[in-house]
Amino acid sequence: MRTFKNEEDSSERSDTSYEEPDLYEVLGKYYDVWYEDQVDDTQFYLRLAEQVGGPVLECMCGTGRSLIPLVEEGYEVWGFDRSHSMLDRLTAKMEHMDDDVQARASVHHADMRTFQCPRRYRLIVVPFNAFLHLLEREGQEAALRNVAEHLEDGGRFVMSVFNPRLDRPEELVRHRGTKTMLNGEIVSKFEAQTFDQPRQRTTVHYFIDISRQDREMRRVTACFTIRYMAYQEVVELMESCGLEVLETYGDWNFSPFNKNSDMMVFVAKRSP
Ligand SMILES: C[S@@+](CC[C@H](N)C(=O)[O-])C[C@H]1O[C@@H](n2cnc3c(N)ncnc32)[C@H](O)[C@@H]1O
Repeated sequence: MRTFKNEEDSSERSDTSYEEPDLYEVLGKYYDVWYEDQVDDTQFYLRLAEQVGGPVLECMCGTGRSLIPLVEEGYEVWGFDRSHSMLDRLTAKMEHMDDDVQARASVHHADMRTFQCPRRYRLIVVPFNAFLHLLEREGQEAALRNVAEHLEDGGRFVMSVFNPRLDRPEELVRHRGTKTMLNGEIVSKFEAQTFDQPRQRTTVHYFIDISRQDREMRRVTACFTIRYMAYQEVVELMESCGLEVLETYGDWNFSPFNKNSDMMVFVAKRSP
C-alpha cells in the first residue's frame, strides 16, 4: 500500500469553514464499531465498479469502510481523507492484508477541495454524507470541479447524501444505540440536533458514554456542523462544475429517488 501526502495539501491550514474541533479526531476510535453494520452502500459501489471498471477513487475515504472491500475485490483503489486519525485506522487494518491486496491501494492525506492525483479514474465515489462537511459554496464547487477533472470520459461519479427532513425535533437528546468494543468498553451514543435553516446547516452534538467493568464511566462529547442540500441544488451544482447527473437513486437497491426517499444517491458523468 502506498501512502503519501499531496503537495497541494492544505488540510492543516486554518479554515474558517471548519468551526469545531475535528469530529473524526475525537471519535475516530469508535467509527468502525459504530458503522460495522453499514454495508449496503459498499455493495452498491461494488456493483457500479463491476459495470464501469477501475481504477476507483474514494474521496473522504475515512477508515476504508468501502475502500477496503473494493481493493479486496481486485480493483486498484485510491483514497484520501483530511483526518490523520481516520487514515491511521485504515492503514492499520490494511497492514494485516496480503501484499497483493495492499499493492492495489494508494492512500493520501488530502483535502477534498484541493486534492491532486496523477491520473484519472473510471469510478469516483464520495460516500456517506461526507460531501456535506463542505460548508461553503466555494469549497463545494472546488471539490466538484476537481472530481470532474479526475474522472475519465465514460467513467462515473457517485455521491450519496441524506434527503433533508427538517421536521425532526430540535435539541432533543436521542439514544442512538449501544455497542461493545473489542477491549470490553461499552459505548452508548446520544445525539441532539439543531437546524439553521437560512444557512442550510444542521449542528449535531454527540454525547458518548463509555463504561468498562474496571473503570468509572466517562463521557466524550463532540459536535459538528454539516450543510444539508436539496435535490435540485445538487443537480445544478454538479452541472455548474462539469458533471451531468444521469440517475438519482433513493436507496441502495437502485430504486429511483422520490421526495420521501431517505437518501439521494447521485450518479453522474463528465459533461461533454
Ligand atoms: C462520514 S465520514 C465517511 C468516511 C468513509 N467515506 C465512509 O463511508 O465510511 C466523512 C469523512 O470525510 C472526511 N472529511 C471531512 N472533510 C474533509 C475534507 N475537506 N477533505 C477530505 N476529507 C474530509 C472526514 O475526515 C471523514 O473521514
